[in-house]
Amino acid sequence: MDHFDYRDGVLHAEDVSLETIAAEVGTPAYVYSTATLRRHYRVLAEAIGAHPDALRDPLIAFAVKANGNLAVLATLARLGAGADTVSEGEIRRALAAGTPADRIVFSGVGKADSELAFAVGAGVRQINVESRPELERLIAVARDLGRGVDVAIRVNPKVGAGGHAKITTGGATDKFGVAPEEALALYAEAAASGAVTPVGLACHIGSQITDLAPLRAAFGVLRDMTLTLRTRGLEVTRLDLGGGLGVPYAGGAPTASPADYAAMAAEVLRGLEVQATFEPGRLLAANAGVLLTRVVHVNVRPDGRRFLVLDAGMNDLMRPALYDAFHDLKPVHLTSAAPIAHDVVGPVCETGDTFARDRPLPPVEAGALMAFTGAGAYGASMANEYNSRLLAPEVLTDGARWSVVRQRPTYDQMLARDQIPDWLQ
Ligand code: LLP
Repeated sequence: MDHFDYRDGVLHAEDVSLETIAAEVGTPAYVYSTATLRRHYRVLAEAIGAHPDALRDPLIAFAVKANGNLAVLATLARLGAGADTVSEGEIRRALAAGTPADRIVFSGVGKADSELAFAVGAGVRQINVESRPELERLIAVARDLGRGVDVAIRVNPKVGAGGHAKITTGGATDKFGVAPEEALALYAEAAASGAVTPVGLACHIGSQITDLAPLRAAFGVLRDMTLTLRTRGLEVTRLDLGGGLGVPYAGGAPTASPADYAAMAAEVLRGLEVQATFEPGRLLAANAGVLLTRVVHVNVRPDGRRFLVLDAGMNDLMRPALYDAFHDLKPVHLTSAAPIAHDVVGPVCETGDTFARDRPLPPVEAGALMAFTGAGAYGASMANEYNSRLLAPEVLTDGARWSVVRQRPTYDQMLARDQIPDWLQ
């Protein structure tokens, strides 16, 4: 459920009209809803909290990659969320937003030595180690710094899942994690090093997962490995279950609810007496944001094909171009006109800049405001300046309050980042 609704025929983010935001901030612009973020966090926290016997002292670490805006991170941090991070930049964002270091998990397949050193120095909760070379480098970094760190070994359970091949991470040929047999060996090596402390296992098998069966299978692998490690005299106190739960992009109820998901996790972990970490990104943020855009014009070809040309492009919201993802598009001003087929496109110079083909939409005029829903996760965080288009600003609403939480840069700022060397002057 979200807090983007029509009031008197105008789409609002909580109590704020999107027309007001467009008039003051311009378009394209991302608009996030605090109430929706809070609701999604609470629903998940309550679902997990319903199983205190099996999911003890759990941590919900928001995947910063989904939405790294400091105001969004601060909103979640104040609710008690930790952060799942994959770069020094994301760790810095989480810290700057007030996330306690001992709630920050550092994941990722290619952490540089400098990033490992930064994470150890910052005192993060745990580093999820994804490979043998990474473990060796981390041990060396920890020795150099004279400071230890808790680690989890990320297991590749050979169970892939997800809404698209490009966001499936748990398959045997995917680059993530280590196979179960090797993970057991790495665990023992980490323990023997004396430099880092292995505390648990981690997995993340993919994103936009709508079927619990592959998640259950992956958690089962972690469970079996936990028992094996314990029979070898090694302690396992934490299991990191990753993120991945899908959201309904077209509205309606999710196919796998947070309650079903938590009940399943509890069933698999019951009796292990481990602390569970969850790393949701999309689940908390996707439906907490829209991308507000204005119609540049409607180009009706002689053959009748209608191109709805928007001022938002694939550089602002990349998911349709990259994954053929569906994002609903709503007119900001409600109309009763009968929908007709439109090809919804942006202004960028390639055919990939197509948000939808033959999408039934009410006819709109140049200048009309529209909003892509489900844009709060992997929207602004994946945006870029392709075609030298300015990054869209971000706005956060909270009831009747709203603030710009990231300014639209100026063209001067964009150009100032480049330098023409002396020898070309
Ligand atoms: N934990 C780890 C280790 C991850 O790699 C990811 C996402 C998450 C947690 C959060 O997953 P979520 O709960 O959001 O599914 N850009 C793609 C999604 C890529 C996800 C990458 N990893 C998209 O727009 O669909």
